[in-house]
Amino acid sequence: MNGKKIRKYAVRGLVGMAGAGLLLLTALYIISGGFMKQYYLEPWSEEYAAQYDDPRISLTARGILAASGHNMQPWIIRLDPSDSMVFYLYADSTRMTKEVDPYARQMMISQGTFLEYVAVAGKKEGWDTKIKLFPDGVYDESDLARSMDTLPVAKITLAKTQPQDTQLYDALYLPDTNREPYQAKELSTSQVSGLESLSGTTGISVTVYQKPGMLSSIGKYALQSAQIEAGVSRVMEESNVIFRASEYQKNQYRYGYSVEGQGASGFMKHILQGMLTIFPSLNSGEAASRNFINYTRTSVDSTPAYAMIITRENSREVQVESGMFYSRLVLTGHTLGLVMQPLSQALEEYPEMNNLYTEFKQAYAPDSGTVQMLFRVGYPTKGTPLSMRRDVMDIIAK
Ligand SMILES: Cc1cc2nc3c(=O)[nH]c(=O)nc-3n(C[C@H](O)[C@H](O)[C@H](O)COP(=O)(O)O)c2cc1C
Repeated sequence: MNGKKIRKYAVRGLVGMAGAGLLLLTALYIISGGFMKQYYLEPWSEEYAAQYDDPRISLTARGILAASGHNMQPWIIRLDPSDSMVFYLYADSTRMTKEVDPYARQMMISQGTFLEYVAVAGKKEGWDTKIKLFPDGVYDESDLARSMDTLPVAKITLAKTQPQDTQLYDALYLPDTNREPYQAKELSTSQVSGLESLSGTTGISVTVYQKPGMLSSIGKYALQSAQIEAGVSRVMEESNVIFRASEYQKNQYRYGYSVEGQGASGFMKHILQGMLTIFPSLNSGEAASRNFINYTRTSVDSTPAYAMIITRENSREVQVESGMFYSRLVLTGHTLGLVMQPLSQALEEYPEMNNLYTEFKQAYAPDSGTVQMLFRVGYPTKGTPLSMRRDVMDIIAK
């Protein structure tokens, strides 16, 4: 074969490979659902809430933008049929994550995150939101699911007031959780006091830790607890079953995890989703455990500050208030240019975590207090995509 022929075949070969590569990428893009409309992101537009005349529904549409454990969005709203200014929040007992959160503590925190978003949206739109927690009494702990179904977490009563501009409102529409590396830059004194001064309600406070010794000891707990969790297959499986690998699944379920949570976006997101749809084992079982430990290590290695919400009591009411407080911190953080990510593993109450949990608690809340939230705080290195949200009308009980 002469040189000319070899070149001709080589070019043909390259064109063929490029064509096959393109075909493969197109196939992955289609399998990922790349051409689909993303209904699961609709609640993130301001027009979404504005389409509802009933302020209870339009405020609920902002509530669902709040952070929730495992992105379960475990909320049910009951509109008072006889008073158009009153609605009730119930914890959705079908959305408990019993393996990772056996006492439903995170579930209660997730009720609070919702309530605070409702209150912030109300302020902006001229609604005073009077929030009464557990208006019909507290849960029977021996019959938790039934209690959740029958007893409201909160009664919300609206009263017309002057609309107030608040920077916190704009922050409602930003992603709550940034799992990316953060800049290696200390928080300023005014940022720390901006967050710590929010410690308002009696018995609930936040402390920011950014001394090197503290960072390394908290980081060690975060990593060790992730390693423990990665070895508990029923807890990992609980997360795995709510992982949504494609646009089809995200539109179908609209809650749970997806690759956006790890920062995937654009064309590459679809290639990754296509791969995960064809090969689910890339993100389940041992691979999921490995990924989880690696992500946590990267997070810990790029964290300039941690913060903890610590409470004196650990009643259901205090857990809900801690969630309200967490939302306030996230929103205030945005106004200060800061982002956050909870790292909850060391705080979890399942048996395999017990030793580490007890040690952690003794180190940071020795006076029989409870660490309700542990989270990273810092300046972002990059933005993070928005995560799935359910349709508000699916949250409103029929
Ligand atoms: C009580 C609670 C615990 C959480 N724990 C974790 C955690 O351990 N790790 C993490 O990356 N995100 C954690 N999150 C964040 C949720 O996963 C996140 O809010 C949810 O996936 C929705 O995403 P978004 O906050 O970006 O809207 C937690 C949130 C809450 C309210």
